[in-house]
Amino acid sequence: MTKPSDVLIDMNGIKRSYALGKDRHLPVLLGLDLQVEHGDFIALMGPSGSGKSTLMNIIGCLDQSDGGQYLLQGRDVSSMSDRALSHVRGQLVGFVFQFFNLIPQLNVRENVALPLFYQGVSKEKRERLAEESLERVSLSHRIDHRPQQLSGGEMQRAAIARSLISKPPLLVADEPTGNLDSRTGATIMELFHDLHKEGMTIVMVTHDADVGKQAGRMIHMRDGRITP
Ligand SMILES: Nc1ncnc2c1ncn2[C@@H]1O[C@H](COP(=O)(O)OP(=O)(O)OP(=O)(O)O)[C@@H](O)[C@H]1O
Ligand SMILES: [Mg+2]
Repeated sequence: MTKPSDVLIDMNGIKRSYALGKDRHLPVLLGLDLQVEHGDFIALMGPSGSGKSTLMNIIGCLDQSDGGQYLLQGRDVSSMSDRALSHVRGQLVGFVFQFFNLIPQLNVRENVALPLFYQGVSKEKRERLAEESLERVSLSHRIDHRPQQLSGGEMQRAAIARSLISKPPLLVADEPTGNLDSRTGATIMELFHDLHKEGMTIVMVTHDADVGKQAGRMIHMRDGRITP
């Protein structure tokens, strides 16, 4: 039996549709329920266009639902202002994307430290924490490189270091191995396993059933809902 305090993500009846011009909407999430406990490692799978990224953006507080309720660590993020939502995101969520989303003009240290810049953390502390975070993903030797000077796996490790810098309890990863060859993808999965062992809660989208099987729990989306 789950105690309420064990639940990190508690979604009930989540809906999201996209506006397609005047009076036309594309419903994508149709009343979705999802509960994730602290320390879970979840792989989210489902056909292309089934709404996985839409759901991940809501889980990671980059977007909000337009129906239903989402409690993240007990806080109702479904009805928060943009400002309050971005504060919660900064505290609770690290986000990793398929195409890394590193800023080409910044070096690795600056990319990793960027979330702390927006949180008003001093330069000295930002740099120290960026160094620690890069050490965590074994990328200290590339700290002064620009993203275009890195391999794909290194770019993803830099992006993971950025997502870890605020030590969030939740890591949300949308196809983190989708743009990597299988060997490099496996090293990223090893890193996720280590983070999970250290207590991180991870929700990851993958198309790859072999990658999905490595998570503690696989969930499937179809027609805007999680299949039972
Ligand atoms: N900003 C948007 N405006 C309009 N429609 C959108 C928008 N973003 C996504 N969609 C549509 O919503 C549906 C779900 O998209 P989503 O990106 O969540 O799917 P997905 O499961 O992540 O797919 P994939 O596996 O290809 O990444 C798709 O039909 C897509 O075309
Ligand atoms: Mg997607």
